[in-house]
Amino acid sequence: MSDSRSVPRGPAAPNSVFSQRAMEAGASQHAITVRLASARAARSANNAAGRAPGCTHIVQSEASATKGRTMADIFQSLNLGAISLANRVVMAPMTRSRGGPQDEPTPMMVEYYRQRAGAGLIVTEGTQPCPAGKGYWRTPGIHSEAQVEGWRLVADAVHTAGGAIVLQIMHVGRAAVRANKDPGAETVAPSAIASRDPIPGPDGTPVSPDTPRALQTAEIAGVIETFAQAASRARRAGMDGVELHCTSGYLPMQFLSTGSNRRTDRYGGTAANRVRFVVETLEAIAGVIGADRVGLGCVSFPATLSTICMMTTRRTRTLPCSTLSIRWGLPICT
Ligand SMILES: Cc1cc2nc3c(=O)[nH]c(=O)nc-3n(C[C@H](O)[C@H](O)[C@H](O)COP(=O)(O)O)c2cc1C
Repeated sequence: MSDSRSVPRGPAAPNSVFSQRAMEAGASQHAITVRLASARAARSANNAAGRAPGCTHIVQSEASATKGRTMADIFQSLNLGAISLANRVVMAPMTRSRGGPQDEPTPMMVEYYRQRAGAGLIVTEGTQPCPAGKGYWRTPGIHSEAQVEGWRLVADAVHTAGGAIVLQIMHVGRAAVRANKDPGAETVAPSAIASRDPIPGPDGTPVSPDTPRALQTAEIAGVIETFAQAASRARRAGMDGVELHCTSGYLPMQFLSTGSNRRTDRYGGTAANRVRFVVETLEAIAGVIGADRVGLGCVSFPATLSTICMMTTRRTRTLPCSTLSIRWGLPICT
């Protein structure tokens, strides 16, 4: 287990609105790092560096990583945080709904990931950290021992083939259909507001999502702990790290959005409050497995969070990265 207190920290960023908001949200000791997917994103981020001192390190490292490179470089090895990649091809996470009856990874999944281990890094399909985090039919979990053993076979197969693999932790929050999950599993969210987007039920027919129960303030620490425990199990299963799924209208993003978060406590209202759930979740995960094995997947954050947007990119995919110098380096984008 890594101690987040030992992580090198970057310079204070008193003039950065971005950092200031994050610190207001309690992120003063953070060390999750990010990687921008494209040269365009890196350039855009680099332009923003002067205005975002808290992000300077990553921006510079990404900009220098892309400057003057040719396509041949994609086949060169790379150290991404604590993870060594044989090349720079990253396979995006894709839900396949091929879990077993107990939401355990199946032999078909082992073969699927083994076949794709030529990528430098695989980000697995979204994986629920707890029964309440499941919303779709037969998505795998990482909350039982059977699931840990199933993922171990996946990780072993990928490593034997020379690849690296991180597990994406996906808690869908309100984007859930009761019939897809355990009978005792609740559907919870920041507020009791149902999503309008239909979700395929067990037979594939789209149905309306559940109306969620709003989480009580006192419960939220426990939800965050499930993410940390999931990350710990992922490492125990042999995964090289984890990615927090913070896109697609799932739980972390539900906290960020004013459409799904109408809370009046410290997790709702201001941008600093709405980002708090993500901040605390990343901190909890990093505290258990080390920040150099943690990534954040984020895309198209709501414009309502523009006060904390220091980088404008069409799309940002973040992954574990090599340095730990930022306090709160989320490249929140519009
Ligand atoms: C079948 C399918 C399943 C997907 N499942 C996930 C998922 O579990 N987690 C996730 O973050 N993204 C998921 N995505 C989104 C992809 O990772 C990817 O971001 C998307 O296809 C856009 O690709 P692009 O980034 O190359 O434009 C899924 C996409 C597809 C097509």
